[in-house]
Amino acid sequence: MTDVATIARELRRLLENAHAPYSGVHVAAAVESPDGVVHYGVNVENAAYPQGICAEASAIAAAVTNGCTQITRVYIATSLPELVWPCGGCRQKIFEFSTDGCEVVTFSPDGEEGRQTIEQLLPLGFRLNTTQVRPK
Ligand code: THU
Repeated sequence: MTDVATIARELRRLLENAHAPYSGVHVAAAVESPDGVVHYGVNVENAAYPQGICAEASAIAAAVTNGCTQITRVYIATSLPELVWPCGGCRQKIFEFSTDGCEVVTFSPDGEEGRQTIEQLLPLGFRLNTTQVRPK
């Protein structure tokens, strides 16, 4: 289990590793598993702009790579002065792995904090029931 202040500090450190030469917007994200393991990611932009990936997607990829497919909390920090919430695509990506009531916590550079559940950010979200899609 990592406390929130430690995660916020680590996110601020990781902002330096964001690869954002095109937008200049640095984003770092963390996703927490039900057993308290935290996986981190940063945005990685590309000269072919649509190939870039958001920090949340990067953190989710790290989690899945490490065998974590359930997310109870998401944390976000950016270089922008205001509180930033996940883009639409990332809301869908988070929803895919979120447990009920999964919280999205976003930090501003001056220490302000916002919290919303993924259901608030993505009402009536779409999921596939794999047993229906691929019946045995
Ligand atoms: N970005 C994220 O990493 N997460 C979001 O939720 C919003 C946007 C990135 C994408 C791009 O690299 C930069 O921020 C500016 O849009």
